[in-house]
Amino acid sequence: MHSVGMTSALKSMWLRWLVNPDGVRTMTSEYRHIPVLLSECLEYLHLESNYTFVDATLGGAGHSLEVAKRIGPTGTLIGIDQDDVARAAATQRLQALPDDVRPEIKVLAGNFGEMDSLLVQAEIPAANGFLFDLGVSSVQIDTPSRGFSFKEDGPLDMRMSPSTQTLTAAEIVNTYNAADLTRIIRQYSDEKWASRIAEFIVEARQGQPLTTSSQLVDVIKAAVPASARRSGGHPAKRTFQALRIEVNGELQVLRTGLESAIRWLAPGGYLAVISYHSLEDRIVKDMFKEYAQGCTCPPDLPVCVCGNKPILKQITRKPILPTPEEIARNPRSRSAKLRVAQRLDETA
Ligand SMILES: C[S@@+](CC[C@H](N)C(=O)[O-])C[C@H]1O[C@@H](n2cnc3c(N)ncnc32)[C@H](O)[C@@H]1O
Ligand SMILES: [Zn+2]
Repeated sequence: MHSVGMTSALKSMWLRWLVNPDGVRTMTSEYRHIPVLLSECLEYLHLESNYTFVDATLGGAGHSLEVAKRIGPTGTLIGIDQDDVARAAATQRLQALPDDVRPEIKVLAGNFGEMDSLLVQAEIPAANGFLFDLGVSSVQIDTPSRGFSFKEDGPLDMRMSPSTQTLTAAEIVNTYNAADLTRIIRQYSDEKWASRIAEFIVEARQGQPLTTSSQLVDVIKAAVPASARRSGGHPAKRTFQALRIEVNGELQVLRTGLESAIRWLAPGGYLAVISYHSLEDRIVKDMFKEYAQGCTCPPDLPVCVCGNKPILKQITRKPILPTPEEIARNPRSRSAKLRVAQRLDETA
């Protein structure tokens, strides 16, 4: 870096980095996460002033900031995140909105799998809209000490909420047997070489436990034959995804979180979900279908005997994908899929 051209902002960033090497990424002013499918979400959520809106994955408030401007000072915005760094950044951004724009803001620490108790705590009767922007933020991936990245060395951690979770990626790779490692790697990432990677992990940890992401990357590289490495991206990408899903119980909480959101949604309210891999998308797709179907009687019954009525209307039959321009601007949006459903008025 040329000191002549160094702006004071850069200098202060550099100073803060010297004080706290991770701080440069965790400081709220530098919370770098570009919201994905933002204009599409806003279009489909049909926000109005005085709405109560729940952002179940607040992150850096990239979506919530725009939601807040639309629901305005008579609205209520509930933001949930299990990550302390994200909540701090989001709170600062939302509070910086001018008084005549800013809705009532309630930022809640917790897992959206516990949505019921979180919303009871928020003291709202119902919500007019929900957004779930699933997975990890860029800040989580880009902070090596969180251990999410296979590109930079860090501890094998991957907890989204280190202050409340105990299971880490290190514990999984060092204690799960080969069969369980194979199962999670295969199920959660569709990795072809799952059983070979599991065997290599079990072999490698014999001497000393694996503690860092680069050690694990080396083991995975040794397990995946060179000929197979030419396609499918980085050989460790899928195993890291699988470990992250297991550490955070991501698929289990998605189901309970969505069920709860549907219960809290006011008639006419919209539920938008952005997923980033096929396992998440399948859960969203199947749940929307199930709730939109209502009747669960076998198709050969002449009349409905279950009496179940549809609860949701599917607004997006096919998922909304980012445009090529968005992918060029933000390559991390590449795998995003947005699905939207609307709560029906069952009394109508
Ligand atoms: C993709 S980011 C959201 C980014 C946000 N929409 C923005 O534009 O700034 C996902 C966020 O959701 C949080 N998260 C993921 N799963 C969660 C869960 N089950 N409960 C609560 N927060 C969760 C993560 O900690 C992360 O901050
Ligand atoms: Zn029926």
